[in-house]
Amino acid sequence: MDRYQRMELDFEHLEEQQEYLVRMKGLLAARLGVPLAAVHSYGCQGNAADTERIKGLLAQMGYRFTDDLDRADLILYNTCAVRENAEDRVFGNVGALKKRKEQKPDLLIVLCGCMTQQPAVAEKIKKSYPYVDLVLGAGAYHLLPKLLYDRLTGGKRSFTLLDESPLVVENQPVSRDGGCKAWLPIMYGCDNFCSYCIVPYVRGRERSRTPAHVAEEARRLLDEGVKDITLLGQNVNSYGKGLEGAPTFAGLLEELNSLPGEFRIRFMTSHPKDCTRELIDTIARCDKVCKHLHLPLQSGSNRVLREMNRRYTAEQYLELVDYARETIPGLSLTSDIIVGFPGETREEFEETLGMIERVGYTSLFTFLYSRRSGTRAAQMEDPVPQEEKSRWLRELLAVQEPIGMGVHQAQVGETLPILADGLGKTGEGMLCGRTDTNIIVEFPGSPQLIGQFVMVRITQARNWALLGERI
Ligand code: 5AD
Ligand code: SF4
Repeated sequence: MDRYQRMELDFEHLEEQQEYLVRMKGLLAARLGVPLAAVHSYGCQGNAADTERIKGLLAQMGYRFTDDLDRADLILYNTCAVRENAEDRVFGNVGALKKRKEQKPDLLIVLCGCMTQQPAVAEKIKKSYPYVDLVLGAGAYHLLPKLLYDRLTGGKRSFTLLDESPLVVENQPVSRDGGCKAWLPIMYGCDNFCSYCIVPYVRGRERSRTPAHVAEEARRLLDEGVKDITLLGQNVNSYGKGLEGAPTFAGLLEELNSLPGEFRIRFMTSHPKDCTRELIDTIARCDKVCKHLHLPLQSGSNRVLREMNRRYTAEQYLELVDYARETIPGLSLTSDIIVGFPGETREEFEETLGMIERVGYTSLFTFLYSRRSGTRAAQMEDPVPQEEKSRWLRELLAVQEPIGMGVHQAQVGETLPILADGLGKTGEGMLCGRTDTNIIVEFPGSPQLIGQFVMVRITQARNWALLGERI
């Protein structure tokens, strides 16, 4: 069978989904008037994008959304499995729903996403959380209308976990929260099997949306007034594998860049092993593609990188960074770092510090290694105590802080185009927005400017943002 098998919801399935959406709408209106749903998304942007699609379906059933759990008729958590503390939080929050269900037996509780896709977790929910009505693995959302309808009309609680090659589902409604900024998934799943990571097990094999579907969604977003589109995938650099005509990510960027209008294109995440010079040249050439590369390093030690199955060396990573810096003036680099991978020594950790100093990242996402059962790293010896790893992490943050601050300070005096995207936090009358390089900027301005590009002169640097004034 084709490993990259993909399917769009065909007419028949869409018709069936539509039928259940209509049935649900009628049922909910009769029982509840205006039904309310509380939906919470954990984890990465990929999950946030899935959640917007789940909310799209719920909105078509007539649900309105609330953050107030007391008023909700349906509570849905879209869960994350990437680290243990994310899972602990979900279990804590689901545990707290038991009382609510006792007080309000009609309350529907739905768990979706990566965490539930793990058989051991699904089993735990089955046994220890009997008040959860529906469990849906990542990539099964299109089934939600039917599953909810069945449950509401007397069906048993159900568990729908997909096999490792779930579908690419197109033609689904989306309910976005992002205002002038939007997520646009271009691919799903991951084939890299970094040894610490659960994602390939819970999200299944890599599969891409066609360039035509991506471009169509981008056009729709631009028509709605979106000005900042972030293309999402676990490894956008391997976009297009298995699709007819073998499209590439660089080609997709070119195509989106040629759409008319004033807007920005961002993307994440780039795996260094697949980040080609062609891609870097394309970023440099495309005026709407932001000059920002999120390029997860994970570790600066070649031995640790090998054990992580990252398939690049520190030297290759630096070569790429040097080429990118030469080719894309003003490039901002950010990264993910894992501290305390099993067997990492003090010296190896120091190699990571060395890389951080050498590259000069604008900012970092830093993580303490979290053991994920079923992954290869979970079998490895892990002798360094947790307190020691936490100390290393604090040390790393202390190394990064002045580096990030230096990048921010270098912007002072510059006049930059900023997309105003919301109200600022630093005081009355302040707006916030982002630079092309994804740094937050606060500046005085009227809320009417939200959703527009404005020119801002940077006057001050803080470690979390820049301050400026409108020109
Ligand atoms: N422990 C700690 N961090 C992890 N990540 C993925 N899996 C783990 C894990 N088991 C981090 C990686 C990845 C980011 C999204 O999450 O740095 O790039
Ligand atoms: Fe996980 Fe590696 Fe895939 Fe990223 S590339 S999702 S870290 S396996």
